[in-house]
Amino acid sequence: MAHTDLYSIRMRAAIGERHVSGAERIVSKENVERTMNELVERAVRKGCPRDQVIVTVESLGDALVQRLTALDMITLAAPDMHAARSIAKRVLQIAGVSGQAVEVAIAHISKGAALSGGNMRGAMIMDAKSGDRLEPDRERGVRASRFDWGDEAGEEISLRLAALGLTHFRTREALALATKAAHGPGIVAELCWSDDPDYTAGYVASLHTGYVRFPFLKQLGDAKGGRAFFVHRDLLDRDVLLRYLQQEAVLITKIGECRAAMMPETYFSLIKNVCEGD
Ligand code: COA
Ligand code: AMP
Repeated sequence: MAHTDLYSIRMRAAIGERHVSGAERIVSKENVERTMNELVERAVRKGCPRDQVIVTVESLGDALVQRLTALDMITLAAPDMHAARSIAKRVLQIAGVSGQAVEVAIAHISKGAALSGGNMRGAMIMDAKSGDRLEPDRERGVRASRFDWGDEAGEEISLRLAALGLTHFRTREALALATKAAHGPGIVAELCWSDDPDYTAGYVASLHTGYVRFPFLKQLGDAKGGRAFFVHRDLLDRDVLLRYLQQEAVLITKIGECRAAMMPETYFSLIKNVCEGD
């Protein structure tokens, strides 16, 4: 933990009522203006019209900023979406999520986890044993916010990911989000795939398994996506977890290991050896 003179800069863009783009950074004072411009450029870059682009700049004042090391990252090869989901289930079970809870999460995300049937605006919080939903608002969900890569770690992770052919901004940002979430009090693991119909990759993440990426966790063209944060219900203080995810600032100042794609069985034997060495 450290006191800082840092700013949280958050961008969100909408077409009509529909949220279409969002991103955030944590930067020092001298980089505020440049970062604001970069985020606005990003919001309008795709050449799509935006009815609204909102950028919020907030001083973190003397708030404590937690410094974290990123989760290790691996991509697992799977022939199709069904195989990928079944491997993702095994990874989640190793992390401590029950098979039942995984099935419930996959079913909710596949059909649209919001009460109204669409995608949620944030993540579900789910009991890792039963799959019960624990988030306060089942339409909105919970959004992790106020996290970023530190300058050096950010440069390093971009290079490492690019060397693996992972140049999409989502991978870098999702790894940052998953690193923050995995360190949340009471969090067991996370499951995510995007609601962007053109983006089929998804991941499972936990402190135990690292960030395990799947190139195809849904079919191309599918606009349903979402996130589940699995928690230890017995150990959970929900308000403490919500404050951590939504409000407390996290900078990722060290990268983890980033490995080339691997066959699932190789990964499972590696992780088994790690568990036995615990
Ligand atoms: N989906 C739908 N609506 C969203 C949204 C999302 N992902 N994010 C924001 N909105 C809309 C909602 O209407 C929201 O109101 P609500 O709180 O009732 O849901 C409203 O914008 C205000 O959201 P808020 O979070 O207060 O705005 P913000 O400006 O503080 O932060 C983001 C906006 C998008 C930067 C932040 O919420 C976020 O998601 N940060 C993480 C971004 C990231 O790196 N994601 C990784 C993707 S791989
Ligand atoms: P995305 O990866 O941005 O396509 O988001 C996938 C899903 O994750 C969305 O449909 C939301 O349900 C959820 N989500 C979006 N932003 C966040 C966030 N900041 N924290 C947690 N969940 C989010």
